[in-house]
Amino acid sequence: MATEKNEKMEQIVSLAKRRGFIYPGSDVYGGLSGTWDFGPLGVSLKRNIMQLWWKMFVEDREDMYGVDAAILMNQKVWKASGHVDTFTDPLVEDLETKQRFRADHLLKDAGFSPDGLGLEQLTQLIKDNDIKSPNGNALSDVRTFNMMFKTTVGPIDDESSISYLRPETAQGIFTNYKNVLDSFYPDLPFGLAQQGKAFRNEISPRDFIFRSREFEQMEIEYFVDPAKWEEAFEHWRQQVWKWTQALGLPDENVHELEVPEADRAHYSKRTIDFEFDFPIGKEELLGLAYRNDFDLMNIQNATGKNMDYLVKGTNTKFVPHVIEPSFGVERAVMAVLTAAYTEDEVNGETRTFLKLSERLAPVKYAVSPLVRNKPELVQKAREVYDALKKKHGAVMWDDNGNIGKRYRRQDEIGTPHCVVVDFQTLEDGTVTIRERDTTQQRRESIEELIS
Ligand code: GLY
Repeated sequence: MATEKNEKMEQIVSLAKRRGFIYPGSDVYGGLSGTWDFGPLGVSLKRNIMQLWWKMFVEDREDMYGVDAAILMNQKVWKASGHVDTFTDPLVEDLETKQRFRADHLLKDAGFSPDGLGLEQLTQLIKDNDIKSPNGNALSDVRTFNMMFKTTVGPIDDESSISYLRPETAQGIFTNYKNVLDSFYPDLPFGLAQQGKAFRNEISPRDFIFRSREFEQMEIEYFVDPAKWEEAFEHWRQQVWKWTQALGLPDENVHELEVPEADRAHYSKRTIDFEFDFPIGKEELLGLAYRNDFDLMNIQNATGKNMDYLVKGTNTKFVPHVIEPSFGVERAVMAVLTAAYTEDEVNGETRTFLKLSERLAPVKYAVSPLVRNKPELVQKAREVYDALKKKHGAVMWDDNGNIGKRYRRQDEIGTPHCVVVDFQTLEDGTVTIRERDTTQQRRESIEELIS
């Protein structure tokens, strides 16, 4: 089973590279561990996912406000949020090669359950069970490693110029809570949403885009009356299920994990991890956390500025509590690719295709002339292509190789419809439309197709 799973992962990684979805970062220079570049089709798929999220959670709702905060933030943000002190992973070193690994990953790989254990307990578990590094060498004691990328801002390199590449987009939302309150004074509950890059200096990035050092998040901080947090938590739990369904992920492959206290992030009073059956195993796709008033109180204490919400028409004031649904874009892309990756048999041969929904597919229509060397066919096909492109944008011209090869290529990138202009088109104005999922072909008039 494990081999089968790894095979599927390899097939997806290979298809993603071959067909222009996702390439290793800085590949031509030998790569940069933990970074990935999205190619022409990957960026479309990723944007379609991000746009779907923005539409569902911002545009279609009355109670949501979008923000786009700077990635570089005042260092005080990360001190107050607890990230400087506690945003760490447990690190062990191979005593021979000095290579570094995540202690919990090595223990998990060896069949142990290290979640929630402290440094000393992890060290003891490694010693007691004689766990070695993947190189077969002895390991150091476990120590903490802060995952934030440190940098300096401005021309002077001293303590005051230190900043960090943000490890979560959430703090860019919390720092704008008061601004949005002053500009809009929304009724409670209301939410702020942000999409954008986040950075974590992972000790051992792995599993394709699942755990990388630079990635994108889509986060919501939903501000609620403290007495009503459970209601809001339940609301977002249902919304998360709507989201996974909108992505086309089968319900049976999505699992809720109630995270025990010892394993929760430092700010959380309740967390549900939504896990997905990735080819690498059941792993976290997104998280839903109750952050209570942790962040707003940190800001209030650190800045002296009042974070109270005054309920309209009353004298009732409180610092709102927060429900945080936090989505990783790359993990969503990987889940969508996993769910869409399909093999079937056509004319006795194995066919690979991506069963992407029309909404997420990077290319909606591919248009081809049946053959390339008949100018009148090419010209007609160009007209159809232009009209479809004007309407849908995501339309590809494809006249490479024979028609069978084109269908295979379009299947592999998940194009739902291939349109072929042939000799009959010149006679009766109809084209062949070949559907990806069924491989069935039908004829339709150009007018019908365009309209
Ligand atoms: N804001 C939560 C997270 O980045 O995991």
